[in-house]
Amino acid sequence: MKDIMTAPFMTEMIRTTTNMYNHGWDERNGGNVSLLLDQNEVAEYLDISAVIRDIPTGFDAPELQGKYFLVTGTGKYFKNIQYAPEVNLGLVRLTDRGARAELLWGFADGGRFTSEFPAHMMSHAARLSVNPENRVVMHCHPANLLAMTYVHELDAKKFTRTLWQMCTECIVVFPDGVNVLPWMLCGTNEIGVATAEEMRSARLVVWSQHGIYGAGADLDETFGLIETAEKAAEIYLKIAHLPLLNTITDSELWQLAHHFNVVPREGYLEKE
Ligand code: 13P
Ligand code: ZN
Repeated sequence: MKDIMTAPFMTEMIRTTTNMYNHGWDERNGGNVSLLLDQNEVAEYLDISAVIRDIPTGFDAPELQGKYFLVTGTGKYFKNIQYAPEVNLGLVRLTDRGARAELLWGFADGGRFTSEFPAHMMSHAARLSVNPENRVVMHCHPANLLAMTYVHELDAKKFTRTLWQMCTECIVVFPDGVNVLPWMLCGTNEIGVATAEEMRSARLVVWSQHGIYGAGADLDETFGLIETAEKAAEIYLKIAHLPLLNTITDSELWQLAHHFNVVPREGYLEKE
């Protein structure tokens, strides 16, 4: 059996969460990440029949029966993951149609997965139904996106268009746009259901006055999605109070879409 600390999924998870902390997106215990793993890659590092303990999830997710996830722990600080991965991360297998998680590694101080596990697992199920390659769900609290939800209309089309207009590359990176939920109580199945519903049509979902969710095929792609939207929100906050003299027009956004071979969210740009 190989040392799990040498597994690419482990080193990438540690690098990414550390980087998220260094970007200021994950103060204290803010944020959570889950990464879908193949049984075969887990079995290279762990005896998959050795269950440490069983953790009830409080929801059903039959689509995820038997699936393996590396996930951040509730109350754990991203700042500390690199120093004590076995305490701050856990590797679980969903069982009982998603109602229970079998802990195979980690949460060594008796901890459990993030309080946002419902939003993560329901979002995985939603994204997998759209893209079987989806492996990552990432949540964090980037300051500019969060600030934007206090001063910008929360309509998804308007929010997306504003971000697309802030940096030329935005429409290329997230042509599917950004969906926006109103403020809701976090850590509940209800916000999980609402987030997963929004994840069907976009890989970014803003939680107003709270943060953002991203989903993607790997940690780099998902990090990059959030990074790009956050940069656009930063530009917006720099200019929102100033007279606007120039912008990226819809015709220019169409040029980008054609040149980079992406399909902008239906109905979000004026017809060509
Ligand atoms: P956890 O510590 O339970 O992951 O919660 C952090 C968070 O960001 C809640 O939305
Ligand atoms: Zn949060």
